[in-house]
Amino acid sequence: MKLFIKLLLTTSVAAFTSLAPAQSNLAASAATVTVHNTMAQRMQACVMCHGKEGRATNAGYFPRIAGKPEGYLFNQLKNFREGRRRNPAMGHLTQFMSDDYLRDIARYFSSLDLPYPPATAHGLSARQQRAAEELVFKGLPDRQIPACASCHGRSMAGRLPAVPGLVTLPADYLMAQLGAWRTGLRAAAAPDCMADITQRLTDEEVSVVARWLSAQSLPTGVKPEVGGSPPLMALCGSGNP
Ligand code: HEC
Ligand code: HEC
Repeated sequence: MKLFIKLLLTTSVAAFTSLAPAQSNLAASAATVTVHNTMAQRMQACVMCHGKEGRATNAGYFPRIAGKPEGYLFNQLKNFREGRRRNPAMGHLTQFMSDDYLRDIARYFSSLDLPYPPATAHGLSARQQRAAEELVFKGLPDRQIPACASCHGRSMAGRLPAVPGLVTLPADYLMAQLGAWRTGLRAAAAPDCMADITQRLTDEEVSVVARWLSAQSLPTGVKPEVGGSPPLMALCGSGNP
């Protein structure tokens, strides 16, 4: 396993060289399609972990990045580079990338409109399923937990400019992210609403909602909602325009 990770990291270092934007920007004057092809080639280094065109499935650990809001992807790439979010591979890859280049990467992946993997069995009991759906669509007002869908979009496909979709992300990944906010390993711009929300959830709720979200699917073409109005239920430094 250690060797596997080492190999992945070494390969990503090798791939990094081909990631830097071309010195002479010949592509700038070329047609958009050429720019896209060039970007697709440079982003081959991402594919081995994030799946073809960034469409990772709900199995394993790697998150889907295709189709997520540009503002969200850009924030994450910067968070990895600046250590607000810690992951050795992602920290390493973004280390020498400029804001402009991170913005290009974010724009490229957010523009991809790819099918979601099919829904899978979540294995939750009827009671657990009800608890997950209540959390997602209604929230728990008496514990000051707003509905996840009030920020992540009615279909949980995300909300512009910077709230991500959560449907079909691997359950292990979702649990790890919610846990990372609790322990401070992941942070977003202040006020960090996800840090507040995760403090109020029980371990059981984290596990149940992660398994439920991971097992859902969406028809192709469902995109992040246009944000702005109504405003997010609680103040989020990273999610509002
Ligand atoms: C060696 C494997 C690996 C490679 C290569 C890799 N990633 Fe990642 N990436 C990860 C892992 C693992 C995570 C989740 C980290 C965590 O737990 O916070 C991640 C997270 C991300 C996220 C945050 C996703 C979210 O929903 O919050 C973005 C954006 C991202 N990667 C973009 C890229 C891009 C762009 C490339 C290519 C330039 C790339 N990654 C290459 C492993 C990789
Ligand atoms: C008040 C608005 C708000 C509410 C309510 C909310 N979220 Fe979030 N959530 C955000 C924002 C903003 C981000 C992006 C944070 C960042 O930039 O890192 C986010 C990010 C996330 C992520 C990271 C996704 C990824 O790809 O790494 C997870 C997981 C998540 N939220 C789960 C939930 C769950 C589960 C609920 C309901 C219990 C919920 N959120 C409720 C605003 C909200």
